[in-house]
Amino acid sequence: MSTDQFSLKGKIALVTGASSGIGAGVAMGLAKAGANVVVAARRVDRLESLVSDIKSVGGTALAVQIDVRDKVTITAAYDKAETELGVIDVVINNAGVADSRNFVKIDEDSLDFVMGTNFGGVWNVAQEGAKRMIKAKKPGSIINIASILGLTVTPGQTAYCASKGAVIQLTRAMALDLMRYNIRVNAIAPGWFRTEINQEYFDSPAGKEYVQRMPARRLGQVEELIGPIIMLASEAGSFVNGTVLPVDGAISVTGIH
Ligand SMILES: NC(=O)c1ccc[n+]([C@@H]2O[C@H](COP(=O)([O-])OP(=O)(O)OC[C@H]3O[C@@H](n4cnc5c(N)ncnc54)[C@H](OP(=O)(O)O)[C@@H]3O)[C@@H](O)[C@H]2O)c1
Repeated sequence: MSTDQFSLKGKIALVTGASSGIGAGVAMGLAKAGANVVVAARRVDRLESLVSDIKSVGGTALAVQIDVRDKVTITAAYDKAETELGVIDVVINNAGVADSRNFVKIDEDSLDFVMGTNFGGVWNVAQEGAKRMIKAKKPGSIINIASILGLTVTPGQTAYCASKGAVIQLTRAMALDLMRYNIRVNAIAPGWFRTEINQEYFDSPAGKEYVQRMPARRLGQVEELIGPIIMLASEAGSFVNGTVLPVDGAISVTGIH
């Protein structure tokens, strides 16, 4: 097998939640692997600066404003991407939020915020993308960023854990429904990566102490997610479908302590 199978040349990849953390790093990684990248989030100023960074390393990128909970913005973003670059055939559903509270303190707004973004957002963006790939008769790859908290649980994260568990089941079910259209659907379950979603915790004494209890005794680096995502997005992953790949330094093997 040639390493050409990992090339993303000619692919048009949408990355949601690209204005920070994992999404920004992954978008840059996909661009370096040859994809034309559409970067999406609500904070457009950050997206524009990422587009400049990608262009400065010779890549092609386009910023689109998207709220994954709002279908009007999703349709508009896909339309803009299609006009400027073509039909998107790689979708990285990465946008996500957390709201850490004990189960009994989660009100309807908090539940709606977490489920609506983490689960509803994946649903909305994937469905629009799949419809367009099918219409264009274009094969594709959809990659949902779940979490090891979709596989196991930790205190104070009931809504988040439930939303990521739902993303994992959605991934498996979508894979079966979309296989007939040559669209593969897989999930990545990241372990812990220091980003805006958790930096306060990992900078605290409790967070630092927790890192020492991880099998790898360290957090992941965002760059360490790029290789697995490229595999799933490219021809290298052509028979990988409906899977959930933990990228977590073995936390899912030992459990969260
Ligand atoms: N960091 C970790 O350790 C870790 C572990 C497991 C899983 N994950 C998952 O990885 C993904 C990325 O998280 P991160 O760590 O990179 O966190 P982050 O730095 O907080 O980034 C979250 C991204 O989601 C976007 N977003 C949030 N709500 C959105 C909405 N309604 N519409 C569009 N975009 C929205 C944000 O952009 P705007 O605010 O500009 O819209 C931002 O770009 C999430 O799904 C998270 O659950 C992270």
